[in-house]
Amino acid sequence: MKITESILWVGVHDHAIDLFEGQYAVPNGMSYNSYVILDEQCAVMDTVDARFTGEWLEKVSAALGDREPDYLIIQHVEPDHSGSILRFLEKYPKVTLAATPKAFPMLKNFYGVDPGARVELKADTVLALGSRSLHFVPAPMVHWPEVALTYDDRDRVLFSADAFGKFGAWDTEEPWTDEARRYYIGIVGKFGAPVQALLKKAAGLDIAAVCPLHGPVLKEDLGKYLALYDAWSAYRPEEKGILIAYTSVYGHTREAAELLKDLLAAKGQKVRLMDLARSDLEEAVAEAFRYDRLILASTSYNGGVFPRMRQFAEELAEHGFQNRKVGIAENGSWAPCAAKTIREKLEGCKNLTWAEPQVTIRSALDADSREALNALAAALAE
Ligand code: FEO
Repeated sequence: MKITESILWVGVHDHAIDLFEGQYAVPNGMSYNSYVILDEQCAVMDTVDARFTGEWLEKVSAALGDREPDYLIIQHVEPDHSGSILRFLEKYPKVTLAATPKAFPMLKNFYGVDPGARVELKADTVLALGSRSLHFVPAPMVHWPEVALTYDDRDRVLFSADAFGKFGAWDTEEPWTDEARRYYIGIVGKFGAPVQALLKKAAGLDIAAVCPLHGPVLKEDLGKYLALYDAWSAYRPEEKGILIAYTSVYGHTREAAELLKDLLAAKGQKVRLMDLARSDLEEAVAEAFRYDRLILASTSYNGGVFPRMRQFAEELAEHGFQNRKVGIAENGSWAPCAAKTIREKLEGCKNLTWAEPQVTIRSALDADSREALNALAAALAE
């Protein structure tokens, strides 16, 4: 598939995968993108997951025609992108391997690859291919330390490694933002500062297209994608709204969560209600990052909080959740302790504003707890 007259997509779509990186549900599969740049010299950008080596090599060969590749550029060593390197090197033994200095030891550790013909990519490295030069943007921790992005100065294409990728094989049509948000928050979300640094570098480039390693090539409306990445990596809410995440054993906490939803909706607020026991936890985390306010409603359990809520709070903290207003409604029949545990789990999160009152339900809703929920809804709607 042509991206430009001289840049071809040679990636693969994976519809067999159930969990990406062993934990993220991907109902629409995953794409592993790779590209061939044809010029006086030819470069192959990254490889693909090892389960697709044969299909990928056929596509690379078709794209090259009767030519040999001069460079294999490894922007990211994670095996979903480097897994086909050994068979590529067997087929094209004269190729020069280009990667950052941190990438080469990783390639040796993963595959025993220690090439003599190599170029170490640094910020000032320029690979002249003929009518274009490739410039490199080291991007440590987006998403591993060895990552570099690549800019083609003729076609104005930014090869963006994991950045601007998404879950879902892109031969299946679906909106970009929801699965890109879940992918970003889950995989890169902890590393906001390096992404902010990368966006500052990218701001100096004239970009016509972004070619990520996952998800579709982005050509239109690039400002939209850059703005979303800026918000996500700066831990700014993407939009005004309230996520109510709850767990409930016998339905009483669910009733409280639903009452909060109705109260807030009546005040004109955008609300999403999620039962954490029946939701994709990574989607719930991404939704918490999406909105500017969060309510956590949960049962007390085993001297702490219900397990799924504990896991949710831990994941929020692990991904750097911050800059939000948070309300809590706990339930406890004899020793309510969910709120205390949630606060402990989130205590490392920066700049959280706790909404008052913190609501305690004793088993089932009564007049007092309904009044407290009304007050909490009023505080969240301010
Ligand atoms: Fe798609 Fe970090 O690998």
